[in-house]
Amino acid sequence: MNWLVTGGAGYIGSHVVQAFREVGLGAVVLDDLSSGHAEFVPDDVPLIRGSILDTDLVAGTLAEHHVTGVVHLAGFKYAGVSVDRPLHTYEQNVTGTSHLLAAMATAGVDAIVFSSSAAVYGTPDTDLVTEQTATAPESPYGESKLIGEWLLRDQGRATGLRHTSLRYFNVVGSGSPTLYDSSPHNLFPLVLDALAAGRTPRINGDDYPTPDGTCVRDYVHVADLAVSHVAAAQALAGGRALEPVYNLGSGDGVSVRQIMTAMADATGIEFTPDVAPRRPGDPARIVASGALAARDLDWKMRHTLADMVASAWRAHTR
Ligand SMILES: NC(=O)c1ccc[n+]([C@@H]2O[C@H](COP(=O)([O-])OP(=O)(O)OC[C@H]3O[C@@H](n4cnc5c(N)ncnc54)[C@H](O)[C@@H]3O)[C@@H](O)[C@H]2O)c1
Repeated sequence: MNWLVTGGAGYIGSHVVQAFREVGLGAVVLDDLSSGHAEFVPDDVPLIRGSILDTDLVAGTLAEHHVTGVVHLAGFKYAGVSVDRPLHTYEQNVTGTSHLLAAMATAGVDAIVFSSSAAVYGTPDTDLVTEQTATAPESPYGESKLIGEWLLRDQGRATGLRHTSLRYFNVVGSGSPTLYDSSPHNLFPLVLDALAAGRTPRINGDDYPTPDGTCVRDYVHVADLAVSHVAAAQALAGGRALEPVYNLGSGDGVSVRQIMTAMADATGIEFTPDVAPRRPGDPARIVASGALAARDLDWKMRHTLADMVASAWRAHTR
């Protein structure tokens, strides 16, 4: 029984492949390597280099590798950049998902786990986001993820496709020193890059209405996240009904300043972060309850914040 992991050469996808292997589930990766790394894919896992937009390639891969389900992580993930590149974002995330679903229908593959995002909520007016919180995306990226969820829902109604969408919050850390987040826009790689290069990390805005004035986010360890993909895949494979969406959030808020302190502790580098003005569009706080995922998807915080920072630093410096 094989699962196709689209985007399996990326940061989160490579951890999902690792988690599948740990429970003995077969994985095949399809990735165009636009932001992924071929070396993130283990030698004994087939890596098909190509795009989810190539319906024939995807349908052929599903048939050739006897795939029974798909974990769909491939996509363009930079919310800020998506504002300037809406068409690219929609093409990768909406057209790409639609083509993938078409290929699955052609090949008779009827189970999918989709990478969605906290970005579907925009700036929620609540201390703790739940799956009932209204969606109000504020970028083409967030919109494209919400449309991806709708595509799964509508295809499910039309064809019986079994599906669930996992809304990730801030995914950080490394489950292995060889796998890391190479995003040029996320807080962790930005701070680690600065420290490794002897520069002072920067906080964007310290005048938010939060306890220490810096933005509060919900950080989750990538290896914990990966385990829930296995649980979701196994549930769908076993015919167990899942919710259409789950928040993969910890319920705990951590401020950017607290992250800076944890970074100094983990790296042994003492620094006082520079403070720059706020970035437009950054909500003061976004923290989610992961209660539903804890009930259905073996979701729990197996790692502390110190683990998240230390593992990210180890992978970064390797
Ligand atoms: N990192 C986060 O904090 C976060 C939060 C919420 C949601 N997500 C979502 O999770 C998914 C994975 O994110 P990540 O952090 O691992 O990013 P990533 O950029 O490391 O991984 C994305 C992977 O998809 C591949 N890819 C992109 N477009 C493709 C296409 N058209 N065809 C085939 N492969 C393609 C890339 O080469 C890369 O390997 C993304 O869909 C992202 O939107 C990530």
